[in-house]
Amino acid sequence: ETVPLEMHKVRVVQKLTLPDIDTRLAAITAAGNNTFLLQNRDVFMDMLTDSGVNAMSDRQVAAMMVADDSYAGSATYTRLETRLREIFGMDWILPTHQGRACENILAQVLVTPGSIVPMNYHFTTTKAHIVLNGGRVEEIIHARGLEVTSDEPFKGDMDVAALERLVAEHGAERIAFVRVEAGTNLIGGQPVSLANLREVRAVCDRHGLTLVYDASLMADNLYFLKTREAACRDLSIREITRQIADLCDVIYFSARKLGCARGGAICVRDEALYNRMRGLVPLYEGFLTYGGMSVREIEALTVGLDETMDEDMISQGPQFIAYMVGELDRRGIPVITPAGGLGCHIDVMRFLDHVPQAQYSAGALASALYIASGVRGMERGTLSEQRAPDGTEPLANMELVRLAMPRRVFTLSQVKYAIDRIDWLWQNRRLVGGLTFVEEPEILRFFYGRLAPV
Ligand code: F0G
Repeated sequence: ETVPLEMHKVRVVQKLTLPDIDTRLAAITAAGNNTFLLQNRDVFMDMLTDSGVNAMSDRQVAAMMVADDSYAGSATYTRLETRLREIFGMDWILPTHQGRACENILAQVLVTPGSIVPMNYHFTTTKAHIVLNGGRVEEIIHARGLEVTSDEPFKGDMDVAALERLVAEHGAERIAFVRVEAGTNLIGGQPVSLANLREVRAVCDRHGLTLVYDASLMADNLYFLKTREAACRDLSIREITRQIADLCDVIYFSARKLGCARGGAICVRDEALYNRMRGLVPLYEGFLTYGGMSVREIEALTVGLDETMDEDMISQGPQFIAYMVGELDRRGIPVITPAGGLGCHIDVMRFLDHVPQAQYSAGALASALYIASGVRGMERGTLSEQRAPDGTEPLANMELVRLAMPRRVFTLSQVKYAIDRIDWLWQNRRLVGGLTFVEEPEILRFFYGRLAPV
Protein backbone atom coordinates (compact mmCIF):
# COMPACT_ATOMS: atom_id res chain seq x y z
CA GLU A 1 0.00 0.00 0.00
CA THR A 2 1.11 3.62 -0.47
CA VAL A 3 2.06 5.44 2.70
CA PRO A 4 1.65 9.23 2.60
CA LEU A 5 4.77 11.30 3.02
CA GLU A 6 4.54 14.61 4.87
CA MET A 7 6.04 17.43 2.80
CA HIS A 8 6.34 19.70 5.84
CA LYS A 9 7.58 19.50 9.41
CA VAL A 10 5.69 20.31 12.59
CA ARG A 11 6.92 23.37 14.49
CA VAL A 12 4.01 24.43 16.69
CA VAL A 13 1.89 21.84 18.50
CA GLN A 14 -1.25 21.70 20.62
CA LYS A 15 -1.59 19.22 23.48
CA LEU A 16 -4.39 16.67 23.21
CA THR A 17 -6.10 14.57 25.86
CA LEU A 18 -7.78 11.21 25.46
CA PRO A 19 -10.64 11.02 27.97
CA ASP A 20 -11.55 7.57 29.30
CA ILE A 21 -14.63 5.77 28.07
CA ASP A 22 -16.89 6.73 31.00
CA THR A 23 -16.10 10.40 30.39
CA ARG A 24 -16.81 9.94 26.69
CA LEU A 25 -20.15 8.27 27.35
CA ALA A 26 -21.14 11.09 29.71
CA ALA A 27 -20.01 13.72 27.21
CA ILE A 28 -21.96 12.34 24.24
CA THR A 29 -25.06 11.87 26.40
CA ALA A 30 -24.81 15.51 27.53
CA ALA A 31 -24.43 16.44 23.84
CA GLY A 32 -27.74 14.78 22.90
CA ASN A 33 -25.82 12.21 20.84
CA ASN A 34 -24.99 14.98 18.39
CA THR A 35 -21.26 15.31 17.74
CA PHE A 36 -21.74 19.01 16.88
CA LEU A 37 -22.65 19.59 20.54
CA LEU A 38 -19.53 17.97 22.04
CA GLN A 39 -16.97 20.17 23.75
CA ASN A 40 -13.63 19.97 21.97
CA ARG A 41 -11.81 19.37 25.28
CA ASP A 42 -13.60 15.98 25.38
CA VAL A 43 -12.40 15.09 21.88
CA PHE A 44 -9.13 13.31 21.04
CA MET A 45 -9.12 13.57 17.24
CA ASP A 46 -11.48 16.19 15.88
CA MET A 47 -12.48 14.89 12.46
CA LEU A 48 -15.78 16.78 12.41
CA THR A 49 -14.69 18.98 9.55
CA ASP A 50 -11.76 20.29 7.59
CA SER A 51 -13.31 23.76 7.76
CA GLY A 52 -11.28 26.41 9.55
CA VAL A 53 -9.10 23.81 11.33
CA ASN A 54 -6.27 23.19 8.88
CA ALA A 55 -2.66 23.82 9.89
CA MET A 56 -1.19 27.14 8.81
CA SER A 57 2.21 27.56 7.25
CA ASP A 58 5.05 29.69 8.59
CA ARG A 59 4.52 31.99 5.60
CA GLN A 60 0.87 32.50 6.53
CA VAL A 61 1.66 33.29 10.15
CA ALA A 62 4.37 35.70 9.02
CA ALA A 63 2.00 37.45 6.60
CA MET A 64 -0.51 37.97 9.42
CA MET A 65 2.07 40.16 11.18
CA VAL A 66 2.25 42.65 8.32
CA ALA A 67 -1.50 43.12 7.89
CA ASP A 68 -2.63 46.65 7.12
CA ASP A 69 -5.42 47.53 9.54
CA SER A 70 -7.93 49.76 7.85
CA TYR A 71 -11.68 49.83 7.40
CA ALA A 72 -11.49 51.09 3.83
CA GLY A 73 -8.83 50.70 1.18
CA SER A 74 -6.60 48.39 3.21
CA ALA A 75 -3.43 47.28 1.40
CA THR A 76 -4.13 43.84 2.82
CA TYR A 77 -7.37 43.64 0.88
CA THR A 78 -5.68 44.88 -2.29
CA ARG A 79 -3.22 41.98 -1.97
CA LEU A 80 -6.12 39.49 -1.78
CA GLU A 81 -7.93 41.07 -4.70
CA THR A 82 -4.77 41.02 -6.81
CA ARG A 83 -4.14 37.35 -5.97
CA LEU A 84 -7.70 36.32 -6.81
CA ARG A 85 -7.61 38.18 -10.13
CA GLU A 86 -4.29 36.57 -10.95
CA ILE A 87 -5.46 33.03 -10.06
CA PHE A 88 -8.98 33.09 -11.53
CA GLY A 89 -8.66 35.80 -14.17
CA MET A 90 -11.91 37.44 -13.06
CA ASP A 91 -11.92 41.20 -12.45
CA TRP A 92 -14.72 41.67 -9.95
CA ILE A 93 -14.32 40.47 -6.36
CA LEU A 94 -16.67 40.56 -3.36
CA PRO A 95 -15.27 39.51 0.06
CA THR A 96 -17.48 37.68 2.60
CA HIS A 97 -17.09 36.26 6.10
CA GLN A 98 -17.53 32.65 4.90
CA GLY A 99 -18.95 30.42 2.18
CA ARG A 100 -22.61 30.48 3.15
CA ALA A 101 -22.49 34.28 3.07
CA CYS A 102 -21.56 34.04 -0.62
CA GLU A 103 -24.54 31.71 -1.03
CA ASN A 104 -26.84 34.19 0.68
CA ILE A 105 -25.80 36.96 -1.71
CA LEU A 106 -25.94 34.78 -4.83
CA ALA A 107 -29.36 33.39 -3.87
CA GLN A 108 -30.83 36.79 -3.00
CA VAL A 109 -29.74 38.24 -6.33
CA LEU A 110 -30.23 35.31 -8.71
CA VAL A 111 -32.96 33.10 -7.21
CA THR A 112 -36.59 34.15 -7.73
CA PRO A 113 -39.71 32.35 -6.47
CA GLY A 114 -40.33 29.27 -8.63
CA SER A 115 -36.87 29.28 -10.17
CA ILE A 116 -34.67 26.21 -10.41
CA VAL A 117 -30.99 25.74 -9.64
CA PRO A 118 -29.57 22.61 -11.28
CA MET A 119 -26.40 21.35 -9.60
CA ASN A 120 -24.26 18.24 -9.49
CA TYR A 121 -25.19 17.84 -5.82
CA HIS A 122 -26.49 20.11 -3.08
CA PHE A 123 -24.62 21.29 -0.02
CA THR A 124 -26.66 21.90 3.16
CA THR A 125 -26.18 25.68 3.41
CA THR A 126 -26.44 26.19 -0.37
CA LYS A 127 -29.80 24.44 -0.56
CA ALA A 128 -31.12 26.27 2.51
CA HIS A 129 -30.40 29.68 0.91
CA ILE A 130 -31.93 28.72 -2.44
CA VAL A 131 -35.07 27.36 -0.76
CA LEU A 132 -35.31 30.43 1.50
CA ASN A 133 -35.48 32.62 -1.62
CA GLY A 134 -38.27 30.53 -3.15
CA GLY A 135 -36.12 28.47 -5.49
CA ARG A 136 -35.73 24.74 -5.94
CA VAL A 137 -32.63 22.60 -6.19
CA GLU A 138 -32.39 19.94 -8.90
CA GLU A 139 -29.60 17.47 -8.29
CA ILE A 140 -28.34 16.04 -11.52
CA ILE A 141 -25.24 14.18 -10.48
CA HIS A 142 -24.33 11.46 -12.93
CA ALA A 143 -25.75 8.10 -11.78
CA ARG A 144 -22.16 6.86 -11.29
CA GLY A 145 -21.73 9.40 -8.49
CA LEU A 146 -24.22 7.64 -6.23
CA GLU A 147 -22.60 4.22 -6.52
CA VAL A 148 -21.00 3.93 -3.12
CA THR A 149 -18.16 1.67 -4.17
CA SER A 150 -16.59 2.16 -7.55
CA ASP A 151 -13.37 3.01 -9.28
CA GLU A 152 -14.88 5.90 -11.19
CA PRO A 153 -12.33 8.76 -10.93
CA PHE A 154 -14.81 11.66 -11.27
CA LYS A 155 -17.92 10.78 -9.30
CA GLY A 156 -18.78 14.47 -8.91
CA ASP A 157 -19.55 14.88 -12.64
CA MET A 158 -22.89 16.34 -13.67
CA ASP A 159 -25.28 14.45 -15.94
CA VAL A 160 -25.17 16.84 -18.88
CA ALA A 161 -28.08 15.18 -20.68
CA ALA A 162 -30.20 15.71 -17.55
CA LEU A 163 -29.25 19.40 -17.63
CA GLU A 164 -30.45 19.63 -21.25
CA ARG A 165 -33.70 17.89 -20.25
CA LEU A 166 -34.28 20.35 -17.40
CA VAL A 167 -33.85 23.31 -19.77
CA ALA A 168 -36.18 21.69 -22.33
CA GLU A 169 -38.81 20.98 -19.68
CA HIS A 170 -38.81 24.29 -17.78
CA GLY A 171 -37.26 26.79 -20.19
CA ALA A 172 -33.96 28.58 -19.72
CA GLU A 173 -35.64 31.60 -18.10
CA ARG A 174 -36.72 29.49 -15.08
CA ILE A 175 -33.11 28.43 -14.42
CA ALA A 176 -31.60 30.88 -11.91
CA PHE A 177 -28.09 29.54 -12.48
CA VAL A 178 -26.26 26.26 -12.88
CA ARG A 179 -24.04 25.30 -9.95
CA VAL A 180 -21.09 22.94 -10.07
CA GLU A 181 -19.54 22.05 -6.73
CA ALA A 182 -15.85 21.11 -6.80
CA GLY A 183 -14.88 18.12 -4.65
CA THR A 184 -18.56 17.30 -4.18
CA ASN A 185 -18.95 17.35 -0.42
CA LEU A 186 -21.98 15.25 0.46
CA ILE A 187 -21.19 12.29 -1.79
CA GLY A 188 -17.76 11.86 -0.25
CA GLY A 189 -15.57 14.71 -1.48
CA GLN A 190 -15.66 13.39 -5.06
CA PRO A 191 -14.08 15.47 -7.84
CA VAL A 192 -15.53 16.93 -11.04
CA SER A 193 -13.54 16.47 -14.25
CA LEU A 194 -12.46 19.34 -16.43
CA ALA A 195 -14.02 17.58 -19.41
CA ASN A 196 -17.39 17.52 -17.64
CA LEU A 197 -17.17 21.19 -16.70
CA ARG A 198 -16.45 21.95 -20.35
CA GLU A 199 -19.62 20.07 -21.41
CA VAL A 200 -21.69 21.91 -18.78
CA ARG A 201 -20.30 25.19 -20.13
CA ALA A 202 -21.38 24.24 -23.65
CA VAL A 203 -24.98 23.70 -22.45
CA CYS A 204 -24.88 27.04 -20.60
CA ASP A 205 -23.64 28.75 -23.76
CA ARG A 206 -26.41 27.21 -25.87
CA HIS A 207 -29.10 28.52 -23.50
CA GLY A 208 -27.55 31.66 -22.06
CA LEU A 209 -27.26 30.23 -18.51
CA THR A 210 -24.97 31.52 -15.77
CA LEU A 211 -22.43 28.96 -14.54
CA VAL A 212 -21.47 29.23 -10.87
CA TYR A 213 -18.61 27.14 -9.48
CA ASP A 214 -18.39 26.45 -5.73
CA ALA A 215 -14.62 26.24 -5.26
CA SER A 216 -14.66 25.57 -1.50
CA LEU A 217 -13.16 22.11 -2.05
CA MET A 218 -11.13 23.11 -5.08
CA ALA A 219 -7.75 22.18 -3.56
CA ASP A 220 -8.59 18.46 -3.49
CA ASN A 221 -10.29 18.66 -6.87
CA LEU A 222 -7.16 20.21 -8.40
CA TYR A 223 -5.01 17.38 -7.07
CA PHE A 224 -7.37 14.80 -8.57
CA LEU A 225 -7.40 16.59 -11.92
CA LYS A 226 -3.62 16.59 -11.96
CA THR A 227 -3.33 12.91 -11.02
CA ARG A 228 -6.45 11.40 -12.66
CA GLU A 229 -7.32 13.38 -15.81
CA ALA A 230 -4.96 12.74 -18.73
CA ALA A 231 -5.55 16.19 -20.25
CA CYS A 232 -4.25 17.82 -17.03
CA ARG A 233 -1.16 15.68 -16.51
CA ASP A 234 1.22 18.12 -18.18
CA LEU A 235 -0.39 21.29 -16.84
CA SER A 236 0.71 23.12 -13.70
CA ILE A 237 -1.86 23.48 -10.88
CA ARG A 238 -2.06 27.16 -11.78
CA GLU A 239 -2.85 26.34 -15.41
CA ILE A 240 -5.52 23.81 -14.42
CA THR A 241 -7.11 26.38 -12.10
CA ARG A 242 -7.19 28.91 -14.89
CA GLN A 243 -8.79 26.43 -17.29
CA ILE A 244 -11.56 25.81 -14.74
CA ALA A 245 -12.08 29.51 -14.12
CA ASP A 246 -12.19 30.34 -17.82
CA LEU A 247 -15.28 28.12 -18.11
CA CYS A 248 -17.20 29.84 -15.28
CA ASP A 249 -19.15 33.09 -14.88
CA VAL A 250 -18.89 33.15 -11.09
CA ILE A 251 -16.55 31.39 -8.66
CA TYR A 252 -17.30 31.52 -4.97
CA PHE A 253 -15.70 29.76 -2.05
CA SER A 254 -15.47 29.24 1.64
CA ALA A 255 -11.92 30.20 2.59
CA ARG A 256 -12.24 27.94 5.64
CA LYS A 257 -11.16 24.98 3.51
CA LEU A 258 -8.84 27.01 1.29
CA GLY A 259 -6.04 28.08 3.52
CA CYS A 260 -7.64 30.22 6.21
CA ALA A 261 -9.70 30.03 9.39
CA ARG A 262 -12.42 32.30 8.07
CA GLY A 263 -13.56 34.15 5.01
CA GLY A 264 -14.83 33.69 1.52
CA ALA A 265 -15.24 35.53 -1.73
CA ILE A 266 -17.34 35.77 -4.86
CA CYS A 267 -15.35 36.31 -8.06
CA VAL A 268 -17.42 37.59 -10.96
CA ARG A 269 -16.61 37.95 -14.65
CA ASP A 270 -19.39 40.38 -15.54
CA GLU A 271 -19.41 43.89 -14.07
CA ALA A 272 -23.21 44.24 -14.30
CA LEU A 273 -23.74 41.09 -12.22
CA TYR A 274 -21.11 42.30 -9.75
CA ASN A 275 -23.00 45.58 -9.40
CA ARG A 276 -26.23 43.73 -8.61
CA MET A 277 -24.55 41.83 -5.76
CA ARG A 278 -22.27 44.54 -4.43
CA GLY A 279 -24.83 46.32 -2.23
CA LEU A 280 -25.41 43.18 -0.16
CA VAL A 281 -21.78 43.03 1.02
CA PRO A 282 -21.90 46.15 3.25
CA LEU A 283 -25.38 45.09 4.34
CA TYR A 284 -24.53 41.58 5.57
CA GLU A 285 -20.74 41.28 5.66
CA GLY A 286 -18.85 44.52 6.14
CA PHE A 287 -17.31 47.13 3.89
CA LEU A 288 -16.14 46.07 0.42
CA THR A 289 -12.50 45.94 1.51
CA TYR A 290 -12.90 43.38 4.30
CA GLY A 291 -16.28 41.64 3.97
CA GLY A 292 -16.38 40.48 7.61
CA MET A 293 -12.84 39.10 7.65
CA SER A 294 -10.10 40.51 9.86
CA VAL A 295 -7.09 41.85 7.99
CA ARG A 296 -4.96 39.11 9.54
CA GLU A 297 -7.25 36.46 8.12
CA ILE A 298 -7.15 38.12 4.73
CA GLU A 299 -3.34 37.99 4.73
CA ALA A 300 -3.41 34.28 5.68
CA LEU A 301 -5.93 33.62 2.93
CA THR A 302 -3.88 35.41 0.29
CA VAL A 303 -0.86 33.25 1.11
CA GLY A 304 -3.10 30.17 1.46
CA LEU A 305 -4.44 30.66 -2.06
CA ASP A 306 -0.89 30.86 -3.36
CA GLU A 307 0.03 27.65 -1.48
CA THR A 308 -3.03 25.95 -2.98
CA MET A 309 -1.21 26.23 -6.30
CA ASP A 310 1.55 23.96 -4.88
CA GLU A 311 1.08 20.26 -5.59
CA ASP A 312 3.14 19.27 -2.51
CA MET A 313 0.60 21.13 -0.37
CA ILE A 314 -2.65 19.99 -1.95
CA SER A 315 -1.47 16.36 -2.12
CA GLN A 316 -1.51 16.01 1.68
CA GLY A 317 -5.28 15.73 2.20
CA PRO A 318 -5.95 13.26 -0.62
CA GLN A 319 -2.92 11.10 0.27
CA PHE A 320 -3.81 10.77 3.97
CA ILE A 321 -7.43 10.10 3.05
CA ALA A 322 -6.41 7.47 0.48
CA TYR A 323 -4.33 5.73 3.16
CA MET A 324 -7.21 5.65 5.66
CA VAL A 325 -9.79 4.54 3.08
CA GLY A 326 -7.41 1.86 1.77
CA GLU A 327 -6.72 0.44 5.25
CA LEU A 328 -10.41 0.31 6.17
CA ASP A 329 -11.35 -1.21 2.81
CA ARG A 330 -8.64 -3.86 3.24
CA ARG A 331 -10.29 -4.87 6.53
CA GLY A 332 -13.66 -5.23 4.81
CA ILE A 333 -15.08 -2.11 6.47
CA PRO A 334 -17.58 -0.35 4.15
CA VAL A 335 -16.26 3.00 2.94
CA ILE A 336 -16.90 5.21 -0.06
CA THR A 337 -14.51 4.40 -2.88
CA PRO A 338 -12.53 5.62 -4.60
CA ALA A 339 -11.07 7.74 -1.81
CA GLY A 340 -12.01 11.38 -2.43
CA GLY A 341 -11.03 14.63 -0.78
CA LEU A 342 -12.26 16.17 2.47
CA GLY A 343 -12.12 12.96 4.50
CA CYS A 344 -12.88 9.29 4.81
CA HIS A 345 -16.56 8.41 4.48
CA ILE A 346 -18.00 5.32 6.16
CA ASP A 347 -20.96 3.75 4.34
CA VAL A 348 -23.41 3.35 7.20
CA MET A 349 -26.12 1.54 5.18
CA ARG A 350 -23.73 -1.42 5.14
CA PHE A 351 -21.90 -0.77 8.45
CA LEU A 352 -25.15 -0.72 10.43
CA ASP A 353 -27.42 -2.70 8.13
CA HIS A 354 -29.62 -3.50 11.15
CA VAL A 355 -30.48 0.19 11.88
CA PRO A 356 -33.18 1.80 9.67
CA GLN A 357 -32.48 5.17 8.02
CA ALA A 358 -35.49 6.63 9.84
CA GLN A 359 -33.57 5.98 13.08
CA TYR A 360 -30.69 8.12 11.80
CA SER A 361 -28.21 5.28 11.43
CA ALA A 362 -25.36 7.63 10.45
CA GLY A 363 -25.98 9.82 13.50
CA ALA A 364 -25.99 6.67 15.65
CA LEU A 365 -22.65 5.53 14.23
CA ALA A 366 -21.04 8.96 14.69
CA SER A 367 -22.13 8.90 18.33
CA ALA A 368 -20.93 5.30 18.85
CA LEU A 369 -17.57 6.01 17.24
CA TYR A 370 -16.97 8.87 19.64
CA ILE A 371 -17.75 6.60 22.60
CA ALA A 372 -15.42 3.91 21.24
CA SER A 373 -12.51 6.18 20.37
CA GLY A 374 -12.76 9.85 21.29
CA VAL A 375 -12.75 10.52 17.52
CA ARG A 376 -15.37 13.05 16.47
CA GLY A 377 -16.91 12.58 13.03
CA MET A 378 -19.96 14.11 11.39
CA GLU A 379 -23.28 12.61 10.36
CA ARG A 380 -23.99 13.13 6.67
CA GLY A 381 -27.28 11.41 5.93
CA THR A 382 -30.99 11.66 6.73
CA LEU A 383 -30.34 13.71 9.87
CA SER A 384 -28.63 16.37 7.70
CA GLU A 385 -31.69 16.63 5.43
CA GLN A 386 -34.61 18.97 6.12
CA ARG A 387 -38.17 17.81 6.64
CA ALA A 388 -40.54 18.57 3.76
CA PRO A 389 -43.09 21.37 4.40
CA ASP A 390 -45.74 18.68 5.11
CA GLY A 391 -43.56 17.24 7.90
CA THR A 392 -42.52 14.10 6.07
CA GLU A 393 -38.93 13.12 6.11
CA PRO A 394 -36.95 12.49 2.92
CA LEU A 395 -34.46 9.66 3.39
CA ALA A 396 -30.99 10.61 2.20
CA ASN A 397 -29.42 8.92 -0.83
CA MET A 398 -26.49 7.96 1.33
CA GLU A 399 -25.97 7.48 5.07
CA LEU A 400 -22.41 8.51 5.81
CA VAL A 401 -20.18 9.17 8.76
CA ARG A 402 -17.60 11.60 7.52
CA LEU A 403 -14.19 11.60 9.18
CA ALA A 404 -12.68 14.78 7.84
CA MET A 405 -8.92 15.06 7.49
CA PRO A 406 -7.83 18.57 8.49
CA ARG A 407 -4.78 19.26 6.35
CA ARG A 408 -1.33 18.75 7.86
CA VAL A 409 -2.86 18.40 11.35
CA PHE A 410 -2.76 14.68 12.24
CA THR A 411 0.21 12.34 12.16
CA LEU A 412 0.06 8.91 10.58
CA SER A 413 0.05 7.27 14.07
CA GLN A 414 -3.09 9.18 14.95
CA VAL A 415 -4.73 8.09 11.71
CA LYS A 416 -3.74 4.49 12.55
CA TYR A 417 -5.37 4.86 15.97
CA ALA A 418 -8.62 5.96 14.32
CA ILE A 419 -8.46 3.00 11.90
CA ASP A 420 -7.93 0.59 14.81
CA ARG A 421 -10.94 1.93 16.75
CA ILE A 422 -13.21 1.88 13.68
CA ASP A 423 -12.17 -1.72 13.16
CA TRP A 424 -13.13 -2.54 16.78
CA LEU A 425 -16.52 -0.91 16.29
CA TRP A 426 -17.01 -2.84 13.04
CA GLN A 427 -16.37 -6.12 14.93
CA ASN A 428 -18.88 -5.02 17.58
CA ARG A 429 -21.40 -3.22 15.36
CA ARG A 430 -24.43 -5.07 16.74
CA LEU A 431 -24.00 -3.03 19.94
CA VAL A 432 -25.16 0.09 18.07
CA GLY A 433 -28.89 0.95 17.95
CA GLY A 434 -30.86 3.80 16.37
CA LEU A 435 -31.65 7.33 17.57
CA THR A 436 -34.76 9.51 17.73
CA PHE A 437 -35.12 13.28 18.09
CA VAL A 438 -35.73 14.72 21.53
CA GLU A 439 -35.38 18.30 20.28
CA GLU A 440 -35.68 19.00 16.57
CA PRO A 441 -34.92 22.53 15.28
CA GLU A 442 -36.76 23.58 12.13
CA ILE A 443 -33.78 24.89 10.18
CA LEU A 444 -30.52 22.97 9.69
CA ARG A 445 -31.54 20.60 12.49
CA PHE A 446 -28.34 18.55 12.35
CA PHE A 447 -26.31 21.43 13.80
CA TYR A 448 -27.99 21.55 17.20
CA GLY A 449 -30.77 18.99 17.39
CA ARG A 450 -30.65 16.55 20.33
CA LEU A 451 -31.32 12.83 20.12
CA ALA A 452 -31.68 9.80 22.36
CA PRO A 453 -31.43 6.05 21.79
CA VAL A 454 -34.67 4.57 20.38
N1 F0G B 1 -19.84 24.93 -0.06
C1 F0G B 1 -19.22 23.77 0.25
C2 F0G B 1 -18.92 22.78 -0.83
C3 F0G B 1 -18.88 23.50 1.58
O1 F0G B 1 -18.28 22.35 1.88
C4 F0G B 1 -19.18 24.46 2.58
C5 F0G B 1 -18.87 24.19 3.99
C6 F0G B 1 -19.83 25.64 2.21
C7 F0G B 1 -20.12 25.84 0.88
C8 F0G B 1 -20.20 26.69 3.22
O2 F0G B 1 -19.06 27.35 3.65
O3 F0G B 1 -18.94 26.83 6.11
O4 F0G B 1 -17.65 28.72 5.11
O5 F0G B 1 -20.10 28.87 5.34
N2 F0G B 1 -18.59 23.07 4.44
C9 F0G B 1 -18.27 22.79 5.84
C10 F0G B 1 -18.09 21.31 6.05
C11 F0G B 1 -19.24 23.36 6.80
O6 F0G B 1 -17.83 20.94 7.21
O7 F0G B 1 -18.16 20.51 5.12
P1 F0G B 1 -18.94 27.97 5.14
